[in-house]
Amino acid sequence: MKINGYTVQFNEGATILEVATAAGIFIPTLCYKKELQPSGGCGVCTVEDINTGNLLPACATCAQNDQNISTTSDRVIRLRKSALVLLLSDHPADCEAPCQMACPSGLPVQRMLESVAAGKWDDARRIALQYPFVCGDKVDDTPCERVCRRSKLGGAVAICAIHRYLCSEEYPVSSDKKSDQRKFRRTSTFRSRMRGLSAEEMLSLAAEKGDRAFKGGATMDQDAMRYEARRCLQCGCERPDNCELRDLCAAFDVKQPPASRTNRRIYRERGAGGFRFDSSRCILCERCVRAAARLNVIVAPGIQGRGFDSRIAPPLARSWDDIDEKTLRVCVQACPTGAMAMR
Ligand code: SF4
Ligand code: SF4
Ligand code: FES
Repeated sequence: MKINGYTVQFNEGATILEVATAAGIFIPTLCYKKELQPSGGCGVCTVEDINTGNLLPACATCAQNDQNISTTSDRVIRLRKSALVLLLSDHPADCEAPCQMACPSGLPVQRMLESVAAGKWDDARRIALQYPFVCGDKVDDTPCERVCRRSKLGGAVAICAIHRYLCSEEYPVSSDKKSDQRKFRRTSTFRSRMRGLSAEEMLSLAAEKGDRAFKGGATMDQDAMRYEARRCLQCGCERPDNCELRDLCAAFDVKQPPASRTNRRIYRERGAGGFRFDSSRCILCERCVRAAARLNVIVAPGIQGRGFDSRIAPPLARSWDDIDEKTLRVCVQACPTGAMAMR
């Protein structure tokens, strides 16, 4: 067979992707993962057979002697871009939280607020102390609060007051734990945004639905911090630097399509060992399902529902807590996006 004009040898039964990879020719993939049964569902690995004009999923099509494959024709690139845009049109999620992008110090706002909401005061303070407090008291002086997604839903989260309070001397931290060195990196040229959600849907993502209670000049304390932190929508992704969808969108210079109503209901769920599932980031590639199936365990995630209601979920009448941690870890490793993560 030929790939991009080169004659290549192959063993019978090998897929076009395997033959190309062995020959050092790159074909992008998303729903494919080595060792797993290919599903041929995402369209990202599409190639063109110049002899027939057929567009083929390279991961799920066997190589044939009479094929003359192009991995880079205009049609192929167009189709790959369309496949990515289609995925993004139902991906109402931020790669990075706007507050974090806006913070001059690079404070991982979301992680700080999550620790506060959970009452993990030492963790919250450890995060806060690593990023200098540089802002003022008013919302105008606070770039993070100006862009906070809760601004239109009862007022921005009181990020700066919490940061300042955690950094204050009268709020000590025990020194027996290592400092959190994970730094925020603005690495990718592509950013997905939380689009197409109604106010109610956005509000459903916050543990606390009430309006901002903290006013400038008021005294912050643990109860007030916790209330404010629970108002956070937790916009950003758990794996912003480790997302195959994001990498492909950056590589193919794909933009998120204009806001359109998403039909997807968003589930954010937790399981053993710090497991997290966020359906707004799930592209339904089923890599997690196929990876878990290889373990031969009885309780594993699968696809539930049909059409727009399809979602990844534990078996009926079970919860994520019923799935053992080892299986969940395998699923997280298989997942190409931030839909599944371990903390
Ligand atoms: S809702 Fe939370 S994560 Fe989203 S922008 Fe506001 S503080 Fe940041
Ligand atoms: S959770 Fe991840 S691996 Fe599973 S279907 Fe969604 S995107 Fe794919
Ligand atoms: S990687 Fe081949 S169809 Fe998704």
